[in-house]
Amino acid sequence: MEIDVRPAREPEVDALHELAAATFPLACPPHLPDVAIRDFVAEHLSVAAFTAHLANPDHSVLVAERGGRLLGYALTKLGPPENPEVLAVVPEGPWCELSKLYVHPDGHGAGLARALLAAVEDEARRASAVTLWLGVNQLNARANAFYAKHGLQVAGTRHFVVGGQVEADFVRACRL
Ligand SMILES: CC(C)(COP(=O)(O)OP(=O)(O)OC[C@H]1O[C@@H](n2cnc3c(N)ncnc32)[C@H](O)[C@@H]1OP(=O)(O)O)[C@@H](O)C(=O)NCCC(=O)NCCS
Repeated sequence: MEIDVRPAREPEVDALHELAAATFPLACPPHLPDVAIRDFVAEHLSVAAFTAHLANPDHSVLVAERGGRLLGYALTKLGPPENPEVLAVVPEGPWCELSKLYVHPDGHGAGLARALLAAVEDEARRASAVTLWLGVNQLNARANAFYAKHGLQVAGTRHFVVGGQVEADFVRACRL
């Protein structure tokens, strides 16, 4: 079945929220409490949050469909990393952050993530970014294998508190 990657459209924000809520838990470490996941989805992956991303000229939301079914999305943000731990390990700008890359399990291993990442890289280059970076939980083996396979190498780590616990992400990056 044909894979189509394109910018998200405003009427799709409800579907994006549903896809994001269904796929976000897949990226979380197993010890993260459900309430922390629910809070994150309510704050960062709501319909209002996607509406705001679509209105922000430095943010981009791309979607991947297969056979007309929305199965994946990517969210990117242009600009310098706000976290000093990240800036220290990816010092060369201009930057594009791959903030979210999520594919429904029905689309795993089917090339949707690869197609989304290729579109993200093209778009970031067009925006003159030279560094593409992301944070990924260290325990997310599938995502880490995917990123390593596509040239996003570990540049360092970043730490943050969620659900009262300190979590560590790998910071991965590549030069565009
Ligand atoms: C991360 C994600 C976008 C990658 O897309 P995908 O279609 O699953 O990626 P691929 O199948 O091309 O690559 C995954 C690789 O991990 C491997 N893999 C699968 N499970 C694994 C595991 N438990 N440990 C190590 N490697 C694993 C696969 O075999 C594959 O490698 P291969 O192509 O050499 O066989 C997708 O899995 C996803 O959306 N996951 C849930 C959300 C998420 O974690 N997003 C990233 C947040 S930073």
